[in-house]
Amino acid sequence: MAHGLAPLAEGEAASAMFRPLASPDILPPLPDLGGCDWVRHAIALVEGETQRTADTHLIKMIFPGLAGISVYFKNESTHPTGSLKHRLARSLVLYGLYNGLIRENTTLVEASSGSTVVSEAYFARLLNLPFIAVMTSSTSRQKVEAIEGFGGKCHFVEGACEVYGAARRIAAETNGHYLDQFTFAERTTDWRHGNAAESIFAQMQCEPEPVPEWVVMSVGTGGTSATIGRHIRYCNYTTRLCVADVENSVFFDAYKFGDRTIVGTGNSRIEGIGRPRVEPSFVSEVIDHMVSLPDVASIAAMTVLSKRLFLVGGSTGTNFMALCWIAAQMKEAGREGPLVTLICDSGARYVDTYHDAAWLKVNGFEIAPYVDALETFLDTGKFAAPLGGPGFRS
Ligand SMILES: Cc1ncc(COP(=O)(O)O)c(C=O)c1O
Repeated sequence: MAHGLAPLAEGEAASAMFRPLASPDILPPLPDLGGCDWVRHAIALVEGETQRTADTHLIKMIFPGLAGISVYFKNESTHPTGSLKHRLARSLVLYGLYNGLIRENTTLVEASSGSTVVSEAYFARLLNLPFIAVMTSSTSRQKVEAIEGFGGKCHFVEGACEVYGAARRIAAETNGHYLDQFTFAERTTDWRHGNAAESIFAQMQCEPEPVPEWVVMSVGTGGTSATIGRHIRYCNYTTRLCVADVENSVFFDAYKFGDRTIVGTGNSRIEGIGRPRVEPSFVSEVIDHMVSLPDVASIAAMTVLSKRLFLVGGSTGTNFMALCWIAAQMKEAGREGPLVTLICDSGARYVDTYHDAAWLKVNGFEIAPYVDALETFLDTGKFAAPLGGPGFRS
């Protein structure tokens, strides 16, 4: 025999060649892959939700004093969970699923700045996952009820700076996943496609002037302004982005002085926006202009818009006040053109706070002078900010 080996006995060759590969001494068996099926099923559920969900409206408002300056509101309050944060919650959950961070039975944990946790509780229920929101005790009752209505739990802390540590700790204790909107908002949102900015520009297409002069947005995580600013550059529009900040927040100073290390101590009084630290998702490089507004002006603007359109929330008041400020400067410079801002959430969430006269009084908000100034401006085009108070900064 050429190879010098004794021939195999009959039947021996077959048994040597077909020894089962999965026998433990040769190759261990494949693991149970049921978890992959769960992740695929979860992704399909979220994609199904996207497919079922309609886009939000872009509303044009006519203000007699602002001839030549058309004003548009992207109404993000009509999402299934009532705010612009529906988009972010979906992106954060998909990001967790795509990156293997969310699996069957993973507890989802989030530090809240407002509405995001309501939307995340909705997605957690869709996927049948436990959800814990870490929030300041000042968060509106309606939001707490909405979270609990979706089966989520709320953990309360006093200071806005305490939410991050508490959320991290709870995620570690439950072996869960901290969704961390403050870090991940800017990177989980696709700024090229499928976002609010793309939708705004598409909806403007048939308008007499389809490219806005300015888009105005307030800042909580910074994710929405980052998406808008990046999308403007991605499409090479001439539009500029103005970001509005509030009292007890550090974003404005960080932008103005180019210092991301600034920290604050107080809690923002406008729910959803204003933070005591510069959040990682705040992308100052894509912002063309920033303003800082007194809280009383934000609430007055919310009140005025709620009367002329429908009930809106406090951060929408900030957006509207900043838009009016830009409009006033455009008028003074003889400029015309469209302005766009966002309705972040509905005022129904704040009927016993910002929309309640007794609450405003107890909390020291004297809105009447600002309401008068804004009404006059919208009707005549003449703006005179009331004197005194914390003032406007830009
Ligand atoms: C009601 C409301 N408005 C505005 C914002 C700010 O958006 P962003 O976090 O994208 O800066 C938030 C954020 O949670 C919010 O809840």
